[in-house]
Amino acid sequence: MAKGKTSVFFCQECGYESSKWSGQCPSCKQWNTMVEELVDKKSTATKKALGNVQVVRLNEISSSREQRISTHMEELDRVLGGGIVPGSLVLVGGDPGIGKSTLLLQTCQQLAQQDLSVLYISGEESLQQIRLRADRIGDFSEKMELLCETNLSLISGVISERKPRIVVIDSIQTMFHEDVNSAPGSVSQVREATSVFMRLAKEQEIAIFVVGHVTKEGVVAGPRVLEHMVDTVLYFEGDRYGSYRILRAVKNRFGSTNEIGVFEMRQTGLCEVKNPSEYMLDGKPKDASGSIVACTMEGTRPMLVEIQALVCHSAFGIPRRTAAGTDFNRVNLLMAVLEKSVGVKMADQDAYINIAGGIRINEPAIDLGVVLAIMSSYRNQPISDDVICFGEVGLSGEVRAVSMVDQRIAEAKKLGFATCILPKVCLKNIQKPQDIQLIGVENVREALNYL
Ligand code: TYD
Ligand code: MG
Repeated sequence: MAKGKTSVFFCQECGYESSKWSGQCPSCKQWNTMVEELVDKKSTATKKALGNVQVVRLNEISSSREQRISTHMEELDRVLGGGIVPGSLVLVGGDPGIGKSTLLLQTCQQLAQQDLSVLYISGEESLQQIRLRADRIGDFSEKMELLCETNLSLISGVISERKPRIVVIDSIQTMFHEDVNSAPGSVSQVREATSVFMRLAKEQEIAIFVVGHVTKEGVVAGPRVLEHMVDTVLYFEGDRYGSYRILRAVKNRFGSTNEIGVFEMRQTGLCEVKNPSEYMLDGKPKDASGSIVACTMEGTRPMLVEIQALVCHSAFGIPRRTAAGTDFNRVNLLMAVLEKSVGVKMADQDAYINIAGGIRINEPAIDLGVVLAIMSSYRNQPISDDVICFGEVGLSGEVRAVSMVDQRIAEAKKLGFATCILPKVCLKNIQKPQDIQLIGVENVREALNYL
C-alpha cells in the first residue's frame, strides 16, 4: 500500500464509508456495493490561525439581490428558481440517453448567444460527436468553446486561466484526479471532483453545471454525497421511449423545489412545452370507462393529468395490482377504503392504475381521481368528458381539503372543463368562478353519486 494512505471501503450506491468490507451495505442495504479505495490519511483541512477568523454581524453583510442569468428557456429558468446564479454548482442527473447532454448543449447555445463565455468540457464524447449533436440543434456563437478532457488538475487549470462565465462538465463520473488512487466514477473520485468544482465555482463566480448518471434505483450513481455538496440538484426524467421529458428540482439553495419544466425531444433537440396540461391530456379516450382527469400541483404550477384504471375479475386467488406513475401502496389503500366505505367487493378484482403521459405524481390530491377511475371501470360506467376532480381521500372515506384550490380551478377552466368535483371544505374560502360548476363532496360515496 502506498505510504500515507489508508484503505477505506465505500458503498458505490450511497457513499457509506467503513473500515472493513461487508457483503451488504449497512446503510442502503444493497449487496456487493462495498469497494475498497485508498485515501489520504492526512486531513485536507488547512490550518488557520485564530487571529484570521472573523465573525461578522448578519446585518452588516450587503444584501444586494443576486444577479441571475436568464437561459432564455423559460422551463429551465423556472426550475432553477429564476435563472442561473453566478457561482452556483448545479447537478443535472438522469438516466443515460434521456437528454442531459442535449439540454446542456442547448443551454450553452442560448448563453453563448448572450455574449457570455461558455466552456463545455466533455469526458464522454469526442469533439466530432459533440459537433454532430450541435449541428442538429442549430447555430452556435463564437463564445462557445469545447474541451475534451478528464484530468481534473488540467481542467481546473484551464478554467482558472480562461475564466469562462459558464462551465458544463459532462459527466462527473468520467473525471479523475491523479492523487486519488481509485478508478473514475468511484466515490472518492467523484467526491474529489465535486469539491474541486465547488471551489472553482465559489472562488471565481463561475456557474458550473455537472452531469451525473443515475443508477437503476434512481440515485446519482455512487455518490448521494454529491447531492449534499452541490447548490442545486435537477433530475431529468421521463420515458426514454416517449418524447416528453420532465426536469425536476430536488434541491435548490436559490429557489423552491418541486418546480418542474417540461420538454419534448424532437429531431432538432429539446423543445419547451409551455402548456403541459394540454400535452398530458392529448389522446384522452372519449366515453371510455375508467378514465378521469385530475388536477395536481407541481410546485406553483397546476397540471391536469388523466388517471386511468382497469378493474376486472381476477382469475387467481390473489388479485394482481399495478400502479404506473403513482404510489402502489396508496392505490391498495384507496381500494381498501372503497371496500369499507362504499361496500364494493374489491378483494377478487385485479386493478391496474396508470397516470397517462408517463409523469410520476405522489400528491394526495389525485386520490379522488384514482377512486373515481377505479369505480368507473368497476361499474363499467364512463365519466363525462368535461368533469375534473381533485381531493385527498382519508382512511374513513372522507374527502379532505387540498391547497391552492383557486389555481386548480382556474387551470380546469382554461382547458374548458365544465364541472369540478372537489372537497366540500374547499368551497368556503374561494372566489366563486363563472362558467364552471363546482360540486363539493364530503366523502367518497357522495362523489360517486355524481358519476
Ligand atoms: P443525450 O443528450 O445524449 O443523453 P444523455 O446525455 O442524457 O445520455 O440524448 C440522447 C438521445 O436524444 C438520443 O437517444 C437521441 C436523442 N436526440 C433527439 O431525439 N434529437 C436531438 O436533436 C438530439 C440531439 C438527440
Ligand atoms: Mg451525455
